[in-house]
This record gives sequence, structure tokens and C-alpha cells, in this order.
Amino acid sequence: MPAPILITGAGQRIGLAFAQHCLANNQPVIVTYRSYRPGVDALQKAGAQCLHADFSTIDGIDDFITRLRAKTDSLRAIIHNASDWMPESEETDSSEVMNAMMQIHAMTPYRINLVCRDLLESGEGNRDIVHMTDYVVEKGSAKHIAYSASKAALANLTLSFSRLLAPRVKVNSVAPSLIMFNPGDSDAYREKTLKKSLMGIEPGIQVAVDSLQFLLDNPYMTGRTLSLDGGRHLA
Ligand SMILES: NC(=O)c1ccc[n+]([C@@H]2O[C@H](COP(=O)([O-])OP(=O)(O)OC[C@H]3O[C@@H](n4cnc5c(N)ncnc54)[C@H](OP(=O)(O)O)[C@@H]3O)[C@@H](O)[C@H]2O)c1
Repeated sequence: MPAPILITGAGQRIGLAFAQHCLANNQPVIVTYRSYRPGVDALQKAGAQCLHADFSTIDGIDDFITRLRAKTDSLRAIIHNASDWMPESEETDSSEVMNAMMQIHAMTPYRINLVCRDLLESGEGNRDIVHMTDYVVEKGSAKHIAYSASKAALANLTLSFSRLLAPRVKVNSVAPSLIMFNPGDSDAYREKTLKKSLMGIEPGIQVAVDSLQFLLDNPYMTGRTLSLDGGRHLA
């Protein structure tokens, strides 16, 4: 039985789709979820090991790591997918926004990577860490300042961990811009967002799944970012 892939925040959307893709290809997964969504139920039925985890505190991260270690002594990969797109707002204290964003996008991957490196270093074959960052790392964002800064911190962790863990473990980022709209997004928002890239499409979840699989399969790519943005930097 291959070592499992750990995917954080896999109750919906990209994390869920990649977990389903892995299971369909006989690759075991351990997924984390914060809210119990229908996707978690589906994953459980398909054979995933599903662990509740709330990474908003250090205790929450450490408690998860303890339960992870009880499930496995080896990991094929860690996909740091869990994320929150919190905007700055008048209702929320800015320190709260920055702390929450740094906690989920920087502290959580940082701590899990350091404490769980032995799980990746054991066993044979390719071993990977993938950080899901964002196109805004390059450009910033006026409405999601802390989110953007915390994803930039995550992009930088890709560089440091690729140095630390080479050659046993490859460490890369995927930096998407629009992959899929949220159900509540208005027509006006959709139209405006589609115009931001050269390709002008909502690519859908499969491009993210294919990109993650590409990184896991590629033996010579580490410390790099795979940009999934439809040429948005040129539009
Ligand atoms: N989708 C896009 O178009 C797009 C664009 C740019 C970047 N990305 C990046 O790609 C990745 C996947 O995107 P997505 O849209 O599929 O993600 P998503 O729908 O936002 O799902 C992320 C999951 O992370 C979980 N999470 C958030 N905060 C958490 C915490 N403190 N502790 C534990 N779990 C937590 C959420 O749990 P709950 O279910 O409880 O909310 C959620 O299910 C993310 O890293 C995102 O930033 C996506």
C-alpha cells in the first residue's frame, strides 16, 4: 500500500477534487476538514481517512499532528491547501485579520513541515510538499492585504523548505488566480474577473488537479512556483 498523501482543508472544491482524483488512482489520502461538509462524507465513503482539524491555534495544529502520527508513520506528500480569503473590513480589527491569515497560510504549513519531515523522509520514491499560494503574491491586493501578505510568506516557505529538505523531498507552490467562481458570485463580478486574464475563461477544477499531479510526478522540479493564471500578468 503506498504511503498516503495529506491534503489539508479538503472538504470542498480543489482539495476535495484532488483527494477524489487520488483515491480514483489507488493513492490513499488523509484529509483534514474544519466544517463537516457533504464532500467529507463522500471522501469517507470512498476510503479517505478524514481528520477534523482547526488550524486557527497552535494547540489546534499540534493536536492534529498527534492524531496524524497515530494514523501513519509515512507520507507520500503534503498538500497545504487549507485557506481563508479574509478581507480587511471595518467590522474586524486589522490585527485579527493579519493573525488569522498568517496562522493558516504561514504558521500551519511551517509547523507541520518542520514537525512532520520524518514522515516524508521515510520510505522510497518521490516525496513532495506543495503549497497552494495565489497569483496575488506577485501583485498584492487592495481588498485582501493580509491574505496576500500571508500567501507571500507561504511562497517564501517554498524556497526555504526546498533547501532544507532536498534532495529527499521536493517543495513547490501552485499559484492560481481564478480557478472556479463561488456559487454566489454576481454576473458583474464574473464578467469583470474573466477580463483579468489573457485566456478569459473560468478554467475549472481539473487544471488544478492536473497541476498538482504534475508536481508529484516530476522528479526535477523543486523550489518553484507553477503559475495557474491564464496569463493574467500580461493582460
Ligand atoms: N479557487 C480559486 O479560484 C483559487 C484562487 C487562488 C488561490 N486559491 C488557493 O487554492 C487553494 C484551494 O482553493 P479553494 O477555493 O478550493 O479553497 P476553499 O474552498 O477556500 O477551501 C479551503 C478549505 O480550508 C479550510 N480552512 C480554512 N481555514 C481553516 C483553518 N483555520 N483550519 C482548518 N481548515 C481551514 C476551509 O474549511 P471550512 O470548510 O471550514 O471553511 C475550507 O474548506 C487555497 O489555498 C486557495 O487560497 C484558489
